[in-house]
Amino acid sequence: MKIVQNIQQAVEAANGLKKSGATLALVPTMGNLHEGHLTLVREAAKHADHVAVSIFVNPLQFNNPKDLKTYPRTLDADLTKLEQAGVDLVFTPTPEIMYPDGMDAHTFVFVPGLSDMLEGALRPGHFKGVTTVVTKLFNIFRPDFAMFGQKDFQQVAVLKKMVRDMAMQIKLVEVPIVRDENGLALSSRNGLLTSEERERAPLIFRQMMQIRDQIISGRRDFRELTEEAGETIDANDGFRTDSIDIVDADTLKPVSEQTSRIAVLMAVYLGTTRLIDSVSFDL
Ligand code: PAF
Repeated sequence: MKIVQNIQQAVEAANGLKKSGATLALVPTMGNLHEGHLTLVREAAKHADHVAVSIFVNPLQFNNPKDLKTYPRTLDADLTKLEQAGVDLVFTPTPEIMYPDGMDAHTFVFVPGLSDMLEGALRPGHFKGVTTVVTKLFNIFRPDFAMFGQKDFQQVAVLKKMVRDMAMQIKLVEVPIVRDENGLALSSRNGLLTSEERERAPLIFRQMMQIRDQIISGRRDFRELTEEAGETIDANDGFRTDSIDIVDADTLKPVSEQTSRIAVLMAVYLGTTRLIDSVSFDL
């Protein structure tokens, strides 16, 4: 497994892997790798001849400096896992390498509409940071495939639109959420929970499933459904609901007559850790 830190090395290594027409899949990550990421890596290997992974805690997508500072960083353990998973190439740049003139001076890519709603309204600038860094990674690696987890439901929608709008010649592959046995969606942020919080965190998943089941059995009073779930969650010590949305899974807009698939998107604080989860299903 080749590990590179600067952009030119990454470009050359990716070009080397794609020599003689071999295909390349990229798995962009922010590190602190868990089974969810390794599932992306395994899917990548099914799609392409070679797999590259980037590990970069992208400061441009953090709207909260404390969140950026406390984001878990476990590079040595990550590299061991990737080596064992048979990854060909790992790119581990620093912010100075990715943003040599500083973040404010860097050209950005912005997807209007989808980036400002829901999670984007709560975390201003977040999706602009994601689309900018992902575009840069795409330009460095020029992969045939790029893998993203469905846990970040809105992120996938934003990136799909970016790829479509900009005619990027990359197939974006969505990979289903990986969960603990108790339902908790795997996330690097789970590492910030105390062991007691981690045991209690599946409450978010249970409430999400409850909303889904109620919609499937015919309820359409979405506002009441989200309020009830929020109240149930907030009645538990340490939990604070940030947002619960029931939207059209294709447009992320409010559910309408045309909606054929629904998504439930949740963001909940447990202690100081913000956890997100989502589920989508046919109406
Ligand atoms: O989903 C993530 O981990 C990040 O948003 C991504 C796609 C690696 C961009 O920094």
